[in-house]
Amino acid sequence: MPTATPRTAPFVIDRQRLQALMQREQQKFVADRPKSRALFERAGKSLLGGVPMNWMIKWAGAFPPFVREAQGAYFFDVDGHRYVDFSLGDTGAMTGHSPSATVAAVQQQITRGITLMLPSEDAIYVAEDLQKRFGLPFWQFALTATDANRFSIRLARHITARPKVLVFNWCYHGTVDESFITLKDGVSHPRRGNLGPPVDPSVTTKVVEFNDLEALEKALATKDVACVLAEPALTNVGIVHPAPGYHKALRELTRKYGTLLIIDETHTICAGPGGYTRAENLEPDFLVLGKPIAGGVPGATYGFTDQIAKAITERQSLEDCDTGGIGGTLAGNALSLAAMRATLQKVLTKEAFARMIPAAERWTAGVQKAIAEFGVPWHVTRLGCRAEYLFAPREPRNGSEAHDAMDFELERFLHLYAMNRGILLTPFHNMALMSPATEAEDVDRHSKVFRESVRELVA
Ligand SMILES: Cc1ncc(COP(=O)(O)O)c(C=O)c1O
Repeated sequence: MPTATPRTAPFVIDRQRLQALMQREQQKFVADRPKSRALFERAGKSLLGGVPMNWMIKWAGAFPPFVREAQGAYFFDVDGHRYVDFSLGDTGAMTGHSPSATVAAVQQQITRGITLMLPSEDAIYVAEDLQKRFGLPFWQFALTATDANRFSIRLARHITARPKVLVFNWCYHGTVDESFITLKDGVSHPRRGNLGPPVDPSVTTKVVEFNDLEALEKALATKDVACVLAEPALTNVGIVHPAPGYHKALRELTRKYGTLLIIDETHTICAGPGGYTRAENLEPDFLVLGKPIAGGVPGATYGFTDQIAKAITERQSLEDCDTGGIGGTLAGNALSLAAMRATLQKVLTKEAFARMIPAAERWTAGVQKAIAEFGVPWHVTRLGCRAEYLFAPREPRNGSEAHDAMDFELERFLHLYAMNRGILLTPFHNMALMSPATEAEDVDRHSKVFRESVRELVA
């Protein structure tokens, strides 16, 4: 095994070398995938950009590998390549692909009615499980985490009669209009790529840096903020952990100024069966969870406190409750709820997290070893069963620091290199997620491939 010589000068990426390596990897990717290529060419005649969903063009290959089938921590493409999947449908399949308990429940329910606009008993089982997991008494359902966030925001505005939402710089909460805002030199702007915003997001939203309590207090003190919408740790710009005491202060400030707190656990459920909220004893007014809650079947939920439930009930009009801006014909459907019940009771269990979290620790240690061996100024961090490397030497304190450390060209090379060797990372940043089916040898495979890619880069 070749060993690295100790670095004497600061590391600077040789961009020409990077581009040459990328070209080599792109040629290999295309040559090895004739069937995916043919499907992509055919798809270009009926699907915009050759993909069913706009983000799918972002994969690092010249085209996305078309999937033949997926099971547990793995999938096979139509050319017969097997991949260890660390993207896991970017959390939608954190349960592993097609977990058997969820599949059995879906198979049973699908022959007995899929959607009714009437409740099934499964809804109660699910809500009771969520009560125990997160400590909030009342629950409602949606089809996506985006919708669960939107509905929580609407309710917060309705209850507080305040117009504004506060989010953190470089957050992501789904396609929630209010959240596509960033800070530049202390001034808020529509986020780059924000397509056809209904209004300038500064009309609806205040944005501050994560971990900046002074800015938070200043924004809340005007008492026009209905709710803070927060991931307990940012996970969509790399991982940004809260500073010690940050959550306690966030809760105190929101209470002091009459602002409701929505904690979006859609990704941070990786922290454990009760998400970050239970792991760190947070006290949100609303809690949102989507993506893996039904093992990949569309479904999401939002829960809230007794006080919120009371406030909603007091303000509810029976006649208008179907046109209040909260809903979805298929939300709370029987199939999603059967899938949620099985997934919560049998898949996203304490025992599963006891496998997933050590796998992420192993992944982090493997990446850290290569970073240290080649002296690249990067770091790797972890939250529960989610891990991520970022191209900066220290952990970022806020979204701007994390965003500044991103390097699209470098990221694409590392992702493509991994994909050519049977490893899939999320296409949006350098995230790896462990499922209950992820084995130590899968993690070690990533460590080996990551090391090789860095060695080639710095050689
Ligand atoms: C924290 C968080 N909340 C909500 C969402 C939205 O989920 P969906 O796209 O399933 O609506 C995402 C999506 O990535 C997310 O990361």
